[in-house]
Amino acid sequence: MTTESTSNIPLGVPTAARMYDEALGGKDHFEVDRAANARLYKAIGEDRVRSTAMENRRFLGRVVRYLSEECGIRQFLDVGSGLPTASNTHQIAKEADPGSRVVYVDIDPIVAVHGRALLADDSTRIVTADMRRPETILDDERVNGFLDFGRPVAVLFVAVFHFVTPEEDPAGIVAAFRERQAPGSYVAISHLTTDGMSEPEQQGWYAGFAGATVPLVLRKEADIRRLFHGYDLVEPGLVRPYDWRPGDDGSPRTSSLFGGVGRVSHPA
Ligand SMILES: C[S@@+](CC[C@H](N)C(=O)[O-])C[C@H]1O[C@@H](n2cnc3c(N)ncnc32)[C@H](O)[C@@H]1O
Repeated sequence: MTTESTSNIPLGVPTAARMYDEALGGKDHFEVDRAANARLYKAIGEDRVRSTAMENRRFLGRVVRYLSEECGIRQFLDVGSGLPTASNTHQIAKEADPGSRVVYVDIDPIVAVHGRALLADDSTRIVTADMRRPETILDDERVNGFLDFGRPVAVLFVAVFHFVTPEEDPAGIVAAFRERQAPGSYVAISHLTTDGMSEPEQQGWYAGFAGATVPLVLRKEADIRRLFHGYDLVEPGLVRPYDWRPGDDGSPRTSSLFGGVGRVSHPA
């Protein structure tokens, strides 16, 4: 259930959720989002932007499959989930076990509005919240009354931390979630990176997101790696998403992102 209404949806400014939807070939975006993406495409190249989005989405799919099929995870908290598209977390998780529970969280109210029909079943929830205030998610009864934090939960932060500034303490945000996670829990993170990205391309990404509802922050690989503090990275570690347990999903290969999965470390 959700209490979101279309009146909360920002119409005059681009949002990351709708821009991403456009880049993936979805239908849930407005003129202002298409205009922002047009700026991105002009600066960076349309193929590169769309490939980056698809590479990230393929990574998400392989991560959820790995966690559900190989690690036995049956509970997912997908933070910055984006608009429902093809191969969503709950659909992949339910292939392993129809009883898997998924909570989607996104700052953009359009996610709850558009997800309502698709997710109308008892094992999936959508919550509109801002991960920069972790307690608003972790103390929400729709989250902690639905997921059992006494058992393993995978928290997914896929392509969302590049919308969190250093002042907003990204490591502290991860820590707040980690502190609630039981042994055997996981985190997955992917992130746009400056490593291997030319200065003009970096400027192009920033120009594309100028004026969006959340600011963009590109990070170095070392800074992304620090977000995994308190977790042990599973093989193959923090890598380009197309290299993370590659399958036959036809992932594009850009050098725009890093991605990895970590398991809550045992206490020393
Ligand atoms: C690029 S999309 C990624 C969607 C999905 N995780 C994926 O990888 O396919 C980033 C999403 O993060 C959401 N987002 C950005 N800042 C957020 C915040 N502070 N709290 C929650 N969601 C946020 C945006 O609204 C957007 O839907």
